Amino acid sequence: MYSMIEEGSVKAYVHTAEKISKELPVFYNPAMKFNRDISVLLLKQFPPMSLCDLMAASGIRAVRFAKELKFKSLTANDHDKESMKLIKKNMKLNKVSFTVENKDANRLLLESKGFDYIDVDPFGSPNPFLDMAVKKISRGGLLAVTATDTAALTGTYPKSTLRKYWAISKKNELMHETGLRILIRKVQLVAAQYDKAMVPVFSFFKDHYFRAFFQCAKGKEEVDRIVKEHGMLNGAGPLWLGQLFDMGLTAKMLKSCKGMNDKELEKFMKIVNDESKIKTAGFFDIHAIVEREGIKHIRKKEEVVKEARKAGFKCSETHFSGTGIRSDISYERLLRILKQ
Ligand SMILES: C[S@@+](CC[C@H](N)C(=O)[O-])C[C@H]1O[C@@H](n2cnc3c(N)ncnc32)[C@H](O)[C@@H]1O
Repeated sequence: MYSMIEEGSVKAYVHTAEKISKELPVFYNPAMKFNRDISVLLLKQFPPMSLCDLMAASGIRAVRFAKELKFKSLTANDHDKESMKLIKKNMKLNKVSFTVENKDANRLLLESKGFDYIDVDPFGSPNPFLDMAVKKISRGGLLAVTATDTAALTGTYPKSTLRKYWAISKKNELMHETGLRILIRKVQLVAAQYDKAMVPVFSFFKDHYFRAFFQCAKGKEEVDRIVKEHGMLNGAGPLWLGQLFDMGLTAKMLKSCKGMNDKELEKFMKIVNDESKIKTAGFFDIHAIVEREGIKHIRKKEEVVKEARKAGFKCSETHFSGTGIRSDISYERLLRILKQ
């Protein structure tokens, strides 16, 4: 049975259940609203594009794109028959129109002329779709990748990380950042084979998933520049050591989310906007450091940020951890602040 929900500016029929799982007749996860909100917010900062919602499920994302964005063309695809029917139903409900396909994702991409934006939002790992997605993304286009196989990227199954992501993962306080950076490098390596440079423009971790948006540049020099920024971080990697966010894009997204009356989104955007200005890989988790160093008291995060800034360093919260800070301060200097 369907129920009707509202999300963003659209209504949609979706299957609901107490436990969200891929066993639903057609998948819909209300917790992924944030993922869809960010996608819309990000795409609003670019000129109209040819958009592909490669694995559309209920079509909620594509319907939101159709209602909330300007675009050149829009294709929503899912290999599941029930899903295709539901996408069409939701399209009608919202009085929007776009192409609906019912193909295997890789076949759809193979048979297409390519797209300016491809949204890869699978169950688990995006690996089966990366090769074709990077081949079919246009120059200057955007590739969005979700990965929900977080355990495979954050050190719970190190053998799995090695097999699937060609890297060593570590289960520690930095695991969400290192996991995201391992995923980014994997996408970049798949694209590098085809002389395509995938530059991360907005990448984050939330709840149970990783999400990375890349802008595609073509050319050997660009690719070489990307690969040069692969290395180890705290025993994890090789991984992407470069920027997770494009500073200009993040600032524009923050500005444009301000009128949306969405406190969670705005809070998140404020944090990542601050983070985007600090060009470091890895963050400091105050609780982990205090415990490791046997410091008797924990200073408030806000105080530590203030003190680090007063001492001339860049410092912000990090969206990766409620107890973390991102800063260009040295470990020793931070310890002095924590011990005060
Ligand atoms: C996590 S859901 C997508 C959720 C959707 N993007 C949203 O925001 O609500 C994954 C979808 O991928 C579809 N799928 C899985 N493998 C596929 C494949 N090889 N080709 C096309 N669709 C596929 C599933 O049927 C499912 O509907």
